[in-house]
Amino acid sequence: MTFITFEGVEGSGKTTQIRLLMAWLQAQHDRVLLTREPGGTHIGEQIRAILLDPAHTAMTPEAEILLFSAARAQIVRELIRPRLAEGWIVICDRFADSTLAYQGYGHGLPLEDLRRITEFATGGLKPDLTVYLDLDVEIGLRRKAGTEEWNRMEAQTLAFHQRVRAGYLALARAEPHRWLVLDATQPIDVIQAHIRARVREFLHGA
Ligand code: TYD
Repeated sequence: MTFITFEGVEGSGKTTQIRLLMAWLQAQHDRVLLTREPGGTHIGEQIRAILLDPAHTAMTPEAEILLFSAARAQIVRELIRPRLAEGWIVICDRFADSTLAYQGYGHGLPLEDLRRITEFATGGLKPDLTVYLDLDVEIGLRRKAGTEEWNRMEAQTLAFHQRVRAGYLALARAEPHRWLVLDATQPIDVIQAHIRARVREFLHGA
């Protein structure tokens, strides 16, 4: 069983890289699932709509973490764990590290509390590999600004996103064996080649 997550700051090209990796994996394996957080299940997608609604400016960081965690508790049990148990490769666009980076480093909620809540939500499930696409946040936000994808999280201040990025880098430094940190300013095919090389090693146990 292989559980791979993707993380990145806004506009890092995560979606493009996931799409390319999926095409490559599906050409070699029957059992590959792509899902995303928040969302991925019927219940989770409804929670996602509440979380990302630009009208919900009054949402407190505490409410936010519990909603993200509720969606996570659902997707882990309804989708991710059962598929992993059946031998699928599961790719998830964002997972628990997003909570530590955004709600923890970004909003300043205590990391210890977040780790406890996350542990409860995931039942201890951790990714085998986490690909992080690292990018200067001003470049990333400029790439996304004004597009339809602009949501409540992206409307945060620049300083918030800079803390998120620093948070990701700190998380990656703390667990270097799990993280693959890539410079997202590189050409798309170069980034994809790095990802495939690491995933190949992983799948073949090298
Ligand atoms: P989405 O449109 O999926 O953004 P992206 O394409 O960048 O993944 O929106 C998800 C947003 O939710 C994104 O800004 C990150 C944020 N988020 C958190 O703040 N905490 C979390 O635990 C998760 C999973 C996402």
